[in-house]
Amino acid sequence: MLDRIAAEISRSGGWISFARYMELALHAPGGYYAGGARKFGAEGDFVTAPELGGLFGRTLARQLRELAPARVLEFGAGSGALADTLTKELQCEYLILETSADLRARQQALLGTRARWLDRLPERFSGAIVANEVVDAMPVHAVAWRSEGILERGVSFDAGKLIWKEQEASGGLRNAAQELAVSIPYESEINLAGRAWMRSLGESLESGAIFVIDYGFPRHEYYHPQRATGTLMCHHKHTAHGDVFARPGEEDITAHVDFSALAAAARDSGLEVLGYATQAQFLVNCGITDVLGEANVENALHYAPLAAQAQKLLSPAEMGELFKVLAFGKGIDAPLLGFQSARHLAL
Ligand SMILES: C[S@@+](CC[C@H](N)C(=O)[O-])C[C@H]1O[C@@H](n2cnc3c(N)ncnc32)[C@H](O)[C@@H]1O
Repeated sequence: MLDRIAAEISRSGGWISFARYMELALHAPGGYYAGGARKFGAEGDFVTAPELGGLFGRTLARQLRELAPARVLEFGAGSGALADTLTKELQCEYLILETSADLRARQQALLGTRARWLDRLPERFSGAIVANEVVDAMPVHAVAWRSEGILERGVSFDAGKLIWKEQEASGGLRNAAQELAVSIPYESEINLAGRAWMRSLGESLESGAIFVIDYGFPRHEYYHPQRATGTLMCHHKHTAHGDVFARPGEEDITAHVDFSALAAAARDSGLEVLGYATQAQFLVNCGITDVLGEANVENALHYAPLAAQAQKLLSPAEMGELFKVLAFGKGIDAPLLGFQSARHLAL
């Protein structure tokens, strides 16, 4: 992968954008998601909410059932863990749009005929759309706000090593960066791909709801003075670090999600924001305690793993507060179950 990236940098005159680097490292042939690395679960690099067990999916199913969708479309289904739970909980068609051929094959081995795989977003879609930890894997642009102006942080290759190299920011990236009031000097990320994805969902959705679940912040927290070096993070064998050039293709590279940017892009494309809450608020509103209550409390072997899942999903020190649920829709009468008694967070 390093050779491939170095060759592309050389062909491009010594510089590629960080977004292109991230796309190659994660999604190109030989990239982290394209390749056969274990990725998920205890033996992989990170654990997502569906990977903890069925509690997350069974609770989310209560929200989806309220909408009675004719079909559910899941983006980026990973190992297929969420789809495994949802296809057992819901009586509707289940579609998956997955960019990684390796993960698609894994999902097909697990789910068989319980799901149908799409190659692209349908031009018109009615139903529910779910994306858990997908936007954080989309390639982001890296930007530096300095006294000399707004610079795009890209990638170059020198003495056998990948290095950061800055050039003046231009076009849509420059416009997006100019809208952000940051305290100079400042480095961070802008997810233009996430905004474009949101707009494409807005154009496609005729009626129904979209649930984006991920870690991140609204804009005023994302571009906060205390986060002056951005949110880029690598995940390798359950260790997080910030050296994005350490192992291209062998580890996950992510950026936190700017939920305000997604909401603005969604509104531009005719979607209504139906709710924005922490994962903990959302799951409690959906009745996670009722799902827990269905378990046999007397049987420690059965109950203890569920209680451990609840702790991870809800605790402010784990996923409860950093992860948010942002829902959009068309033709839906709010409030949705997951947001009904939540104090709405500011976007
Ligand atoms: C961090 S994993 C999360 C997997 C799963 N949703 C979960 O929660 O366990 C990111 C997933 O999104 C997929 N992905 C990344 N970008 C995508 C895109 N633009 N469209 C669809 N899937 C995408 C990856 O291949 C992978 O399956």
